[in-house]
Amino acid sequence: MRIALLYGGRSGEHEVSCRSAAAIYEHLDRERFEVLPVGITHEGRWYLQREVRVKDGALEVTEDEGAVVWAVPGAGLWCGGEDLRVDCVFPIVHGTFGEDGTLQGLLEQAGVAYVGAGVLGSALGMDKDRAKAVWLQAGLPILPFMVVRRESLPPWNELAIQLRRRMEFPVFVKPARGGSSVGISKVHDERGLKKACELAFTYDSKIVIEQGIEAREIECGVWGNEDVRSFPPGEIIHTHEFYDYEAKYEDTEGLQLKIPAELTPEQQEYVRNVAEKAYRALECEGFARVDFLLDTETEVFYLNEINTLPGFTPVSMFPLMAQAAGISFPDLLTRLIELGLD
Ligand code: DAL
Ligand code: MG
Repeated sequence: MRIALLYGGRSGEHEVSCRSAAAIYEHLDRERFEVLPVGITHEGRWYLQREVRVKDGALEVTEDEGAVVWAVPGAGLWCGGEDLRVDCVFPIVHGTFGEDGTLQGLLEQAGVAYVGAGVLGSALGMDKDRAKAVWLQAGLPILPFMVVRRESLPPWNELAIQLRRRMEFPVFVKPARGGSSVGISKVHDERGLKKACELAFTYDSKIVIEQGIEAREIECGVWGNEDVRSFPPGEIIHTHEFYDYEAKYEDTEGLQLKIPAELTPEQQEYVRNVAEKAYRALECEGFARVDFLLDTETEVFYLNEINTLPGFTPVSMFPLMAQAAGISFPDLLTRLIELGLD
């Protein structure tokens, strides 16, 4: 069976995607799958990687004008006038233009099966505002938040008043459709609000401001199409003020991924149940990682976000949670492909 491994892409998570792709490339079962790596440049051009190069644990994207890949409506993926005859795409393209439904729409048009959530699940999962709106409607636990759009941004003092009506400092300011904590700030008082919003607005025209709490970071892997299942949750322990890009991928010395998380059996059960409900509410398919905050004071769990194409780097939770549940990395990838073909 031929698998196109799609990676890189136009988002701020390009590098993370190249690292996830290196791990997936290494672990795909070669007795079952012939793997065609297709690298996407920062500009969004697709190139078949005839020679695979790994640098610093990441697959490189080599541009070769003779190896441009096209997604052709109704006719799959082509390269140099040749049908690549791909059975399934594994798109490990994190963030905008990869995880937000646009790539999924292109693959639907091309008529090729792919791993992970479809157009709707991807689009909802990527948009922190819309995901929370759906979860709220489904009665799932989320923290107070507000949405600010660039075109209707109130004066700063008015924004601070609106914010105080709903929550207290500290707050998190985030691009609504971002990933890997790119563009996120923790804001301790009114003075920091403008700078944090301006930073988030450089990534997205819509931002969310969320109530910050003292919390443990708990993550839960979910997978399946109609039959939705989850892995026992894990916990992220880090030494940064919050789990930002640096803590995730650069300064990982103090980073600990504790699997399973130290939770009571009742808490585990609760997290898995809410994670599965959150996944279903957004109509996800394939797999996703659902991230929670556990309030250290009140012991209440809140849904933080969902990642419909979660990281597969050596310091990413999803493959490790699967492994801890007895599913090896190669078997996990095989089963995700089977779900994509389903
Ligand atoms: N957005 C990154 C890749 C993650 O959630 O793992
Ligand atoms: Mg995310």
